[in-house]
Parts: sequence; structure tokens; C-alpha cells
Amino acid sequence: MSDTARDPLRLGIFMPSVSHMPNISHYKAQPDDWTFDSNRQIAQAAERAGFDFLFPVSRWRTIGGEIDYHGKSLETMTWAASLLAVTSRIQIFSTVHVPVFNPVVAAKMGATLDHIGGGRWGINIVSGWNRAEFDMMGIEMLDHASRYERSEDFITILKGLWTEPPGTFNFSSGHYQVRHGYVMPQPQRRPHPPIVNAGSSPDAREMAARQCDYAFVCPVGIDDATALAADFKARARRHGRDIRVVAMVQPVWGASREDAIAERQRVIDGMDAVAVRNWADGVGLESGSFTAQTLESFSFGAGSLPLLGTATDVADGLADLYARGIDGVLMSYHDYLQDTTRFADEVVPLLRARGVL
Ligand SMILES: Cc1cc2nc3c(=O)[nH]c(=O)nc-3n(C[C@H](O)[C@H](O)[C@H](O)COP(=O)(O)O)c2cc1C
Repeated sequence: MSDTARDPLRLGIFMPSVSHMPNISHYKAQPDDWTFDSNRQIAQAAERAGFDFLFPVSRWRTIGGEIDYHGKSLETMTWAASLLAVTSRIQIFSTVHVPVFNPVVAAKMGATLDHIGGGRWGINIVSGWNRAEFDMMGIEMLDHASRYERSEDFITILKGLWTEPPGTFNFSSGHYQVRHGYVMPQPQRRPHPPIVNAGSSPDAREMAARQCDYAFVCPVGIDDATALAADFKARARRHGRDIRVVAMVQPVWGASREDAIAERQRVIDGMDAVAVRNWADGVGLESGSFTAQTLESFSFGAGSLPLLGTATDVADGLADLYARGIDGVLMSYHDYLQDTTRFADEVVPLLRARGVL
């Protein structure tokens, strides 16, 4: 993708499909919004406000701590199905843990979701890091490199089933056997629904470069975004491909910068140290991807890049990310429903004025 042909910045919401989004803290500005009804209202508000996509968190059991972080969660294939049915334009992703799904079943579910949404569904591939989730299911967790090897096979199978003539796709590896693979109907979206990966280890980067349409990343600071975007894109180019890079950010904006900074401080002051530790130990384990993050940065937005200040500061931060090669943002909010419309009213016009949208 050359810069001259660049698409506008894609705006996405990291949805509260799990309890206690978005911060790992006792402090919560608003009541928990994980319920389906709340997700539906946010989805419809996001669609009305012109957002591009919705993205869930997929969790199978609590992360724990005093706040019971992610203690309740909606399964994201069924979550997407129901939200696709009550929206008409916005793209909606599901997150699939590779060890939990047979790829033929995931391809069939994905094709169904694509048809429910008329080509608006996409998939986030998670190789798996949360040992407690897999222990619960009696599923063995592979070493980091093998996990990504299996995820890459999984994606190859999805693409084969979604694009090859029905009944002709065969695949054989140490992880999977598919004979005369058949998924009909195939997705409406051509060549196939968009495929995301959200890891930043070398294993993840190589897999994303070879196989994925989007890499979702957590820049540690705004400068880090430049290197992250450039690295993913250079790796993809080496495989003759394009990849778009989406940054996870948490905008908090108010009448003044002091208001936004005070809100962040309330989150940090209320940090649930046990839940943060559980999260950091789990997600960072063996990956080395979160070594630059602090416990505070996990508490505030679970690793999202904070964008704090006034609406102008947030718009400047987003425009800066775009200029640094970031193609989209996955935003979490303190009050999802209110901030979705507030973002559209207060920040979107500033982004338009900056030529980012
Ligand atoms: C934006 C984003 C969304 C993610 N969503 C999930 C999720 O829903 N469920 C999950 O178990 N892990 C999720 N992860 C974790 C990643 O899939 C991955 O395991 C983690 O980033 C470490 O990967 P790495 O070791 O390859 O760097 C997410 C990560 C990011 C950055």
C-alpha cells in the first residue's frame, strides 16, 4: 500500500464483551457494560456514529484478582452473530483461540457469520497464552514457536476452505489433517474475511507478515508506533504482501488536560495488583512482547497506549499515529456508550480537519 493511496484512519472499538473493561482497577467510572444489551447499544451507536469496526475480547475463564477481572465474558462467535444481525454497515470481528477450535468448524462458523453480516465479519487469531483456560479444557499448551506454527496452519486451512473449489482442499501437517475439505457456502467477502493477529513476538510478526491482513499492536509510547508499523510492513513486503497495522489506544478526554490526567490517576490509585499480576504474568509469559510495559500501564487500559487531554490532544495523538504508519486504532473507553457518541461529536470533526479521515 503506497502512502498516496492510503485509506483513512480506521476507527474501531475494543468492545466490553468481557466484564471489567477497560482497566484493571477497582475504580470504574461506569457500571460494568459486558451484558449483551449493553454491547448491542454500543454497537448500534458506533454504527450510527460512523465507526469502522468492533472487536471483542475472548476469554474462557476469569483472570481473577479482587475485582474478578474478566470474570464474565460473552463467547465471541455467538456475540458477533447477534451483533451482525442488528447492524448493517459496521465490520465485526470474532476472536478464535486456535487450540480450542477445529479449523474446519471455525471456517464453517466464519462463513455463516459472513453470510449473516453480508460480508462484514472478520477473524482474530489467538495462538493461546492463558494456561488456566486450556488446563480447564484438558488442552495441552504448546511452546511459543509451535503455537504460532499451528496458528499458521490454521489460517492456511481457513483460506483453503474459503477459496478453493468445494471438496478439493487437502492439508496435512503435524497439527492438522484435512481431506477433501468442504465448506459451503463460502464467504461472500472475497478473497476471504479479513484475518487479524495481535501478537508482537518475532513468531507473531512473521506469521502475520505471511498470512494476516491486519496486525494489532500495543505501542509502548507514540515513538514506538513508528518502529512497529514499519517492521510489520517491511516483513510483509518481503513476502510480497501488504499488512495494515492497528494500534490499541485508550483515549480519555475532558474539558482540560488536568481532568484527563486525574481520571488516569484514579484508575492507577485503584489498581488491583493481583489481577494486574495475573494478567501480566499470563500474557507476557514466554512472549517477551510486554517487557517494556509497567504494572501501571497494564492497569490503565491493559497495555493500551494512553491518549490523554482535551479532544484536540486526542485528535493530535491519533493524527500523529497515522502519520507514523498506523492504519487504524482499536479504542477502549471509560464509558463506552457515552464516549462512542462523544468521540464522534468531539474528536471526529478534528480528525477530518487534519485530513486523517
Ligand atoms: C489488541 C489485542 C487483542 C487481544 N485479544 C485477545 C483475546 O481476546 N484473547 C486472548 O486470549 N488474547 C488476546 N490477545 C493476546 C494476543 O493474542 C497474544 O497472545 C499476546 O499479544 C502475546 O502474543 P505474542 O507472544 O506473540 O507477542 C490480544 C492482544 C492484543 C494486542
